[in-house]
Amino acid sequence: MTSARRARILSGIQPSGKLHLGNWFGAMEQHIALQDEGDAFYFIADYHALTTVQDRAALAGLVRDVALDYLALGLDPHKATFFRQSDVPEVCELTWMLSTVTGMGLLERATSYKDKIARGQQPRAGLFFYPVLMAADILLYQSDLVPVGKDQVQHLEMARDMADAFHAAFACEVFRRPEARLAGHAAVVPGTDGQKMSKSYGNTIDIFAEGKALKTAVMSVKTDSRGVEEPKEPDDVLVYQLYRLVAPAEQARQMAESLARGGYGYGDAKKALLAAIDERFAPARERRRQLAARPAEVDEVLAAGGARARTEAQRTLEAVREAVGMTRRPVAAR
Ligand code: TRP
Repeated sequence: MTSARRARILSGIQPSGKLHLGNWFGAMEQHIALQDEGDAFYFIADYHALTTVQDRAALAGLVRDVALDYLALGLDPHKATFFRQSDVPEVCELTWMLSTVTGMGLLERATSYKDKIARGQQPRAGLFFYPVLMAADILLYQSDLVPVGKDQVQHLEMARDMADAFHAAFACEVFRRPEARLAGHAAVVPGTDGQKMSKSYGNTIDIFAEGKALKTAVMSVKTDSRGVEEPKEPDDVLVYQLYRLVAPAEQARQMAESLARGGYGYGDAKKALLAAIDERFAPARERRRQLAARPAEVDEVLAAGGARARTEAQRTLEAVREAVGMTRRPVAAR
């Protein structure tokens, strides 16, 4: 019996600290939903993280935290292969192979590199090579579908260009051509000040915040000076824009009605938002606490995922080595 290969879904997760609602609705929610739709590979991009985090204790902590976050929020290691990028060092070998067919011009056009330099990051070779490593991530695992945010779409196009260039240079066909799947909601998730929610703007509501810290964040959501009695167009109300993401549809509809009718103030809306966040994420917080108390279990999950991923990686790399003329021939026995 032949069974069709399930689509390979792959994405890399930057270990970048406390996760917020923007991360959840912009990417993670889709990652977790997709584990039911195909053969998902999700990895913690720690090689990539070295372009910004150069502190061993900090890196180890960030990797552990993001592993706990994903597992607590529903990543199921029985469905998805969850691993640490650096547990498959073959990705570095493929990075090199791809670099030999990658034009400098292609890398120089990468907007995310230019943005990072404009924001003050040092121009280092590793940062410049970031898209080659990312292409290697994608091509190594024969990915069909790569859920990413808008800012990563160019990197995905570059990965396809590198696959084509490799196939052309070595007259072979060793990689699948991946497609981007835009992650998350069409609308950006607004932060407490109304700009896009982002750690660099200091306007986040963190998923694992609770108690006073969460309350402070929610109470800081920007409002205007309209009084309780005034009817308000719901789409203009920032608290509502957040509420409708978090709360069940029926409750969101009720808040929209109350705002439009008048007699419903921002204080009421914020209380409802706080309750909705608590309700939505309380189970994940509890799971995270339990997992954090069993670090060996998390290590085992990542190690098992890494072993599985590495087997896949080695298969691709064998074909790549063969294509370039590096096949290792067994020494004939005498
Ligand atoms: N660059 C991605 C980001 O910043 C993370 C990443 C690394 C990635 N390798 C990847 C995403 C491969 C998708 C596929 O979010």
